[in-house]
Amino acid sequence: MADYRIAVIPGDGIGEEVAPEGLRVLQAASEISGSFRFETESFPWGCRYYLENGRMMAEDGLKRLRDFDAIYFGAVGWPEVPDHISLRGLRLAICQGFEQYICLRPSLLLPGIKSPLSGVKEGDIDFIVVRENTEGEYSGAGGRAHAGLPIEVALETAVFSRIGVERVVRYAFELAQGRKRRLICATKSNAQQHTLTLWDEIFAKTAGDYPEVKTERVLIDALAARLVQQPQSLDVIVASNLFGDILTDLGAAICGSLGIAPSGNINPERDYPSMFEPVHGSAPDLAGAGAANPIAMIWCGAMMLDFLGEKEGAQMIESAIGSVTRTGLALTPDLGGSAATADVTEAVIAEITAPHEMNR
Ligand code: NAI
Ligand code: MG
Repeated sequence: MADYRIAVIPGDGIGEEVAPEGLRVLQAASEISGSFRFETESFPWGCRYYLENGRMMAEDGLKRLRDFDAIYFGAVGWPEVPDHISLRGLRLAICQGFEQYICLRPSLLLPGIKSPLSGVKEGDIDFIVVRENTEGEYSGAGGRAHAGLPIEVALETAVFSRIGVERVVRYAFELAQGRKRRLICATKSNAQQHTLTLWDEIFAKTAGDYPEVKTERVLIDALAARLVQQPQSLDVIVASNLFGDILTDLGAAICGSLGIAPSGNINPERDYPSMFEPVHGSAPDLAGAGAANPIAMIWCGAMMLDFLGEKEGAQMIESAIGSVTRTGLALTPDLGGSAATADVTEAVIAEITAPHEMNR
């Protein structure tokens, strides 16, 4: 029996509501599979912590997280704290500090869910975005000068390193090779003449090592349109930090809701813990209503198990999610239902336990 130590950072808003639901599902998967156990330690970091302590996480936060097997993260952000402080002080500090340079974001139209795109049915949307996760537009390089004066200047420098691009591009090729062998390079090198030309060059050169993968270079604006017009044509997309971020909210939306999209911030070398979090944020507009969709967070639990090598547990959770959406018995309002957050969790847990109850 494998034992895992999971650090839990619920964060703010609906992050605090969905994280416990995801943990309940993980517990059920642990009991039913019998192949792994986990213990958790929860960290109260986020905007409330910031308002009390002047920082988003403890000063030695990374050190305290370092030895966990994985991090299970809700969402950060609250209106009283500027978003750049909350995001940089917690999520980005962890992604960058732990070399989680791959952000994996699947877009899958779940059974029974209606896409807002007309004519799109189950099986039509099933692609994954490999988002660069430590540099690019999120590197933090830049500054502001002449504050408040008419001559004020703000610079935000996108940083693309050869190592940084090579490692994410190669990861995407490897992933594509195990799927449908189709890989799209999201770019904008017509306008970004320094950074994204380097990106394109490295993509083209790496493609030489994977002759069986069919590649396309697509400008990000046209790619956004393609997500809407021909989602069936997509399999794996490799994108910069910002492009990948924007594209995956769109990916979630065409699959019915932001509330179902999971994400894994991966350190492939496993030198540091990887972190699993929904694509969505803290949704202050929804917080406290008990109506947040927990599926993204629950699915993150499956991604985390898969990464830890618990394939059976991961599969159990994924198929339970699919059964719940297929029957439509417990859907939150974002998916057109009237279920509460906890109802969805109960339904997923019931699906996990049901077949095993019958076998007894
Ligand atoms: P958001 O993803 O929190 O919400 C966008 C819309 O989707 C809202 O209408 C919300 O109600 C809905 N939504 C999101 N998750 C849902 C769920 N599970 N179930 C049902 N509906 C859901 O993005 P927004 O509003 O742009 O940002 C809110 C805060 O979250 C900001 O402070 C932002 O900085 C932060 N944020 C944090 C992220 C993170 O922690 N990784 C990622 C994105 C935003
Ligand atoms: Mg985002």
